[in-house]
Amino acid sequence: MQAHIVLLPGDGIGPEVVAQGERVLLEIGKRFGHTFRFSTHSIGGCAIDQCGNPLPDETLAACKGSQAVLLGAVGGPKWDDPNAKTRPEAGLLKIRKELGLFANLRPIFVSPHLVSASPLKTEIVSGTDILFFRELTGGIYFGPSGKETIDGGESAYNTMVYSTYEVERIVRLAGEAARGRRKKVTSVDKANVLEVSRLWRKTFERVMKAEFPDVQFENVLVDAMAMHLISKPRSFDVVVTENLFGDILTDEGSMLPGSMGMLPSASIGSSGPGLYEPIHGSAPDIAGKGIANPLATILAAAMLLRHSLKLESEAVVIEKAVDRVLAKGHRTADLAGGGSSVGTAEMGSLVIAELSA
Ligand code: NAD
Ligand code: IPM
Ligand code: MN
Repeated sequence: MQAHIVLLPGDGIGPEVVAQGERVLLEIGKRFGHTFRFSTHSIGGCAIDQCGNPLPDETLAACKGSQAVLLGAVGGPKWDDPNAKTRPEAGLLKIRKELGLFANLRPIFVSPHLVSASPLKTEIVSGTDILFFRELTGGIYFGPSGKETIDGGESAYNTMVYSTYEVERIVRLAGEAARGRRKKVTSVDKANVLEVSRLWRKTFERVMKAEFPDVQFENVLVDAMAMHLISKPRSFDVVVTENLFGDILTDEGSMLPGSMGMLPSASIGSSGPGLYEPIHGSAPDIAGKGIANPLATILAAAMLLRHSLKLESEAVVIEKAVDRVLAKGHRTADLAGGGSSVGTAEMGSLVIAELSA
């Protein structure tokens, strides 16, 4: 197979972790006889510095012309001025919207080799295997927003809006995924307060009853979900939720395997290239030190092979290699709990060495 993959390293630790994802993909290409052509483009803060635009036109055009995109992270204190004309994060939101990536898949899998890295008790996290479907192109991130002065005082607002079709399409993906797993979907909302959540819940229940009679479903309120996620994570299989709730709950969920540095994600639409990235950000506190955990990005590269290139066996080879590296006790600093640790590039090399095992 021949494929064009766009790399968007971004800011902070983004370039450090994407470099490892690229190395792993190159090695997979070599071993399985695929030709992956890479091109690197700017997004986020570094793009603002270069041309004043967090998503330059040439970056967007390259992504649209590719089979898949691997992204690091955007943002950082340098671009955090609340009065700035634009922000790095605006580039990320725009690329998601422009590519129609309405579904963000965020698996939370606790490897048996990582249970002790979690701040939670082993008997709680052990065996956790959840697949989040976070809606990605709607909700409060994209609804009407603004600033105004009322009676001389400043006021600002964002609005959470969903239409039926936006809920239907992500619920369908969640339902289909559940069929290949443990056949249960949990929808998370705030239907006791929000009108938009009542539309979400009504639509979720209708689609599940009509189209997925073989899949069990339940509704959980988001505040309770924040608690259940860390008290009984094993009781969840597929979770579907709106944009902001999914953003928050999956960062919380990263403490099940013990680090943000472990969670990959895949953003997909109904056609065209998908975008693959770790769920974490640019980690300004550790950027440039060579200590960031690259495994989330490497696992995102595996998702890229699975979802955009349909290379399931190659994806599994990467996931198994990561698990063997963990089984042998190798840890980056975020998971080492003060014990001995390896750096970002060394972790990449360890995974590459296991690809042939
Ligand atoms: P963050 O995810 O960057 O970092 C949170 C904490 O987790 C930090 O202590 C960091 O060191 C640690 N961490 C994150 N990834 C790690 C890794 N791979 N290895 C080891 N430790 C890791 O979140 P933040 O500090 O709240 O945000 C920093 C910037 O990143 C902000 O500008 C934010 O907007 C941006 N951000 C971008 C993305 C993205 O590009 N998809 C996602 C989240 C946050
Ligand atoms: C994420 C990030 C982004 C989000 C930010 C940086 C726009 O937190 O990918 O989880 O909120 O979606
Ligand atoms: Mn986030």
